Amino acid sequence: RAGVTLIQVVVHVVHQNGAQNIDDAQVASQIEALNRDYRKTNTDVSGVPAVWQALAADCDIEFQLATTDPSGAPTNGITRTQTATASFGTDDAVKSTATGGQDPWPTDRYLNLWSCELGGGLLGYAQFPGGPAATDGVVILHSAFGTSGTATAPFDMGRTATHEVGHWLNLFHIWGDDGTACNGTDFVADTPNQGGPNFGKPNFPRVTCNNAPDGDMFMNYMDYVDDAAMFMFTEGQLARMNATLDGPRASFLS
Ligand code: ARG
Ligand code: ZN
Ligand code: CA
Repeated sequence: RAGVTLIQVVVHVVHQNGAQNIDDAQVASQIEALNRDYRKTNTDVSGVPAVWQALAADCDIEFQLATTDPSGAPTNGITRTQTATASFGTDDAVKSTATGGQDPWPTDRYLNLWSCELGGGLLGYAQFPGGPAATDGVVILHSAFGTSGTATAPFDMGRTATHEVGHWLNLFHIWGDDGTACNGTDFVADTPNQGGPNFGKPNFPRVTCNNAPDGDMFMNYMDYVDDAAMFMFTEGQLARMNATLDGPRASFLS
């Protein structure tokens, strides 16, 4: 992959009218947030501890609401679907018109984002590369979507999508998904081994798994901290994303 990769995005707003029917400006604010984080134009990157500053990556990935729909017609890149479902879960029902959601646009050409109500405190979920085309993409709770409208603190900086698109590009959680043990890995060499997820706004350093003196890289987008507390991908994570865009998601290279 050379230069900047531009990803076409379609946002499926699945709603019961009212607040769930987020406006076009809130959708646009999510695209802006993705561009900010994936191009490292986020000003809060200055909060990365000095010891890790050199690892903070400009991922050279940009996002744009699709201007052409699958049939070749002009579009604003947003679909709107009224649903009878009060709240969705992780069963992918939101990704199918037959189950109260909206079918994806071709997943080899469009990054499909669904905005909807989610239950159980879930902020979002993603499908990794290599899964079924019919369910490929990212689902985000409407009140964690974008930076305006219904977006609600502490998840109102668009970073649920930053995190979930990280999964879509094959990044694992930074603690290695082993509960709170110290034997899991994210398969990234430049992220410290860490015990479990961090939440809220941790103080640096937070030491687990014998990772003193610098401790957990809790300000990484692939941890579980508040939006305002996460502000970096590493060069090692970028290498995995590059491998994805040169491999299972190469259809997105223009
Ligand atoms: N899949 C995670 C969840 O639903 C997303 C965490 C996103 N974190 C954030 N600060 N936005 O909990
Ligand atoms: Zn995650
Ligand atoms: Ca690691």
